[in-house]
Amino acid sequence: MFARYRKPTGSQPATAVKPVQDTSPAKSAEPARSKAPRNAAADPLPARASTPDREQQRKQRMNAIKSDLHKRLLENLNLSALERASEAELRSEINTIAAEALAEMDILLNSEERLTLNKELYFEVMGLGPLEPLLQDDTVNDILVNGPKKVFIERAGKLELSDVTFRDERHLLRIIDKIVSAVGRRVDESNPYVDARLADGSRFNAMVPPVAVDGSLVSIRKFKKEKLSVPDLVRFGAFSEEMALYLEAAVSTRLNIIVSGGTGSGKTTTLNALSSFISNDERVLTIEDTAELQLQQSHVGRMESRPANMEGKGAVTQRDCLRNALRMRPDRIIVGETRGEEVIDMLQAMNTGHDGSMTTIHANSARDGISRLENMVAMAGIEMPLRAVRSQIGSAVNLIVQASRLQDGSRRMVSITEITGMEGDIITMQEIFRFERTGLEPDGTILGHFTGTGLRSAYSDRFKRWGYDLPASIYDEVRVRR
Ligand SMILES: Nc1ncnc2c1ncn2[C@@H]1O[C@H](COP(=O)(O)OP(=O)(O)OP(=O)(O)O)[C@@H](O)[C@H]1O
Ligand SMILES: [Mg+2]
Repeated sequence: MFARYRKPTGSQPATAVKPVQDTSPAKSAEPARSKAPRNAAADPLPARASTPDREQQRKQRMNAIKSDLHKRLLENLNLSALERASEAELRSEINTIAAEALAEMDILLNSEERLTLNKELYFEVMGLGPLEPLLQDDTVNDILVNGPKKVFIERAGKLELSDVTFRDERHLLRIIDKIVSAVGRRVDESNPYVDARLADGSRFNAMVPPVAVDGSLVSIRKFKKEKLSVPDLVRFGAFSEEMALYLEAAVSTRLNIIVSGGTGSGKTTTLNALSSFISNDERVLTIEDTAELQLQQSHVGRMESRPANMEGKGAVTQRDCLRNALRMRPDRIIVGETRGEEVIDMLQAMNTGHDGSMTTIHANSARDGISRLENMVAMAGIEMPLRAVRSQIGSAVNLIVQASRLQDGSRRMVSITEITGMEGDIITMQEIFRFERTGLEPDGTILGHFTGTGLRSAYSDRFKRWGYDLPASIYDEVRVRR
């Protein structure tokens, strides 16, 4: 039934199953053991091995068998026919070839081991090998590989070492190569790093040796189909209901907003959630390096920048997209992350009729965010006196929302700050809401609450004019509430 997925006989190795060198437990390598069938779990163990040792040895043994079988599968499968096969057919074919090879190698596995092995082999041939179970696990947010033997994952804000490993650096490189070649990219010694978006929308970055000193480094930010909504974020304690009310008024009345924060602090998630307050009749254009935003409005145009090809040609930068976007009659422009020269066009857009625009930046506080913007302008090679740059920023940006990933792994909006103008050379701002820390639980959980600062929004009148008459009490300071 599955013969069509096997290589034609002519192209097969002379023996149906080729003896494999070194790691292979093939008969020739171990003549003394070859008579009786061997049990992969029990056979190679010393009589009194302790349980962790046994487990370790069993794992090594299973890895060696898997590596062997994988080679044999690649030799025996007709890869071009695989593309048209259904998953069930493929699994079944892989199981059959594996069973034949195991019999040939005189290896006995129990049914659980066989099931695991078949599943892992399927992932090796068709998926991303050891990474596949992590990619399929919805509770995993980030996957971080530090060389073949250390794979970290982030779950619920906490980073942990997983028990997933690659056989060796070559195995890891093969999986990286599989990922990047599927999206038409290449990574090797001369192109040692790559940033890409996977077919499922996940963000992928890899850096290979020799630039990565101890083995390839990979980071994957998994794409979540279900983005966190404003009510979700309030429920998770990312911000308070009062802050949500305020943010709704700010977005609806078209303030220009910057979400600032460190790596993985929830900037993109916050930006996406804030975009839900944009009215459905506005034309929104989004520009990102890796398309992550998922706006719910009907009139959305999405753009993704792209790096140069191998010959160094064809790059389309965020700035190119932004300039073009300005000719596409947008009501609002959303830039996923402003990190370079596009800052100039972003500020100009915010100052010239595309109010209600939003972006994120990498910074640790509202003040730091302003300095980052100034630096970006300077780095873009614009010769402008600092005061002029500041006045551009001061009049373009209305609000800075600071996201933070706290030590206990929780992600919170630690501050909402309004930019109120300029005093001399200094941009003035006032904090409206903040997260007040009150203590630390023995297990490391941070205690605290959100509070107004007692200052009323400088945009209160504007909110009122647009029909958002927020109660003055939302700005009140909250005295310890647990
Ligand atoms: N308040 C929250 N509660 C729980 N999980 C969150 C929260 N905010 C964000 N996340 C999750 O944290 C991860 C990182 O979020 P996000 O991509 O928004 O961060 P980022 O600051 O944009 O990261 P980067 O700097 O890499 O662009 C995502 O998996 C997201 O689903
Ligand atoms: Mg982001």
